[in-house]
Amino acid sequence: MKTEYIERPDLLTEEGRRGIARAGKIIREGGLVVFPTETVFGLGGNGLDADAAAKIYAAKGRPSDNPLIIHIAKPSDAAEYTETNDLFDRLASRFMPGPLTVVLPAKPIVPKTVTAGLRTVAVRCPSHPIAHALIEAAGVPIAAPSANLSGSPSPTTFAHVRDDLDGRVDMILGGECEIGVESTIVRIDSPDSLTLLRPGGITPEELGAFARVTLSDAVLNKLKEGERVQSPGMKYKHYAPKTPLFLLKGDSEGRERFLANETGRFAVIAYTEELSVLGKHPENPVLFDLGSENDRAEQLHRLFYLLREADKTGCEKIYAALPGTEGLSLALYNRMIRAAAYRIIELN
Ligand code: TXA
Ligand code: MG
Repeated sequence: MKTEYIERPDLLTEEGRRGIARAGKIIREGGLVVFPTETVFGLGGNGLDADAAAKIYAAKGRPSDNPLIIHIAKPSDAAEYTETNDLFDRLASRFMPGPLTVVLPAKPIVPKTVTAGLRTVAVRCPSHPIAHALIEAAGVPIAAPSANLSGSPSPTTFAHVRDDLDGRVDMILGGECEIGVESTIVRIDSPDSLTLLRPGGITPEELGAFARVTLSDAVLNKLKEGERVQSPGMKYKHYAPKTPLFLLKGDSEGRERFLANETGRFAVIAYTEELSVLGKHPENPVLFDLGSENDRAEQLHRLFYLLREADKTGCEKIYAALPGTEGLSLALYNRMIRAAAYRIIELN
């Protein structure tokens, strides 16, 4: 299929708005449109059309037992597709529109292909203006997984989307993804408790002001063979560059010492503060700047972008520091251990 592109959709112009209207029509009529959100790019189709959902799975190469998030224009629309409750309303008034996805019991209007046969469905109200305009233009909720081929890091730039999905979707809209990793996903378990299924830009600490938060086991740990998962996506290999990534557990001196002895062609996704020392390495490693050591938001923003760029260097290995698990670091940790297929090197 020939993919139409709008690299810089602009809602301020008549032409830009016409483009979004066209994209909305494509969705409404069963086609696929990739669009930017504040987290990562989404691969969207009509969330009420079972065939559109099937097309999404095919375009991504995704197993059809991994359900999709439906994206809505305003929080109150959630009640059309799910059984909402008081805790949802309180979370929505604080965090929506924004990078929070909530899993709730699905109403029958939601196709089984979207929920992968589960009784629940995940809903999210994105804050990105293009995403918002597209949902409004479509006039239907938009089912959208991240716009990567299954297994790869989620795309956060127009060029990275094109690398994966050119020729597989009807249209690609460009734009900026401010956060850079996927939304925080929670499941509401009772009026005052929820389970964090996937960490993201909204932290457990922030959610803790609204309910008791339990971390799903799969957030921090590798699932055991055959273990039952609370969120189907967690059992799959994820976010992985093709080049093996290794995470270094230890402080900056430990990393320096370890990397000083490393030979061959390797890349390092390093903190800004480490670049000058690593730049003196005799093997001339390929250095990527993840951001300042204490700026977790910037690191999240750059992580998926850099994993994809590191893959293009032809290096044999990629090294990065293993982050902590407090606050925004939890989302980094969760993505990085999967991207590294749980390869962690303990430094002493
Ligand atoms: O930021 C995001 O959430 C992005 C943008 C495009 O909105 N979307 C995204 O979708 O990350 P996806 O499909 O790549 O990840 C959704 C995750 C999957 O791991 C899936 O298993 C889980 O959400 N999920 C979806 N519906 C669920 C449900 N009913 N119960 C539990 N987990 C669910
Ligand atoms: Mg994904």
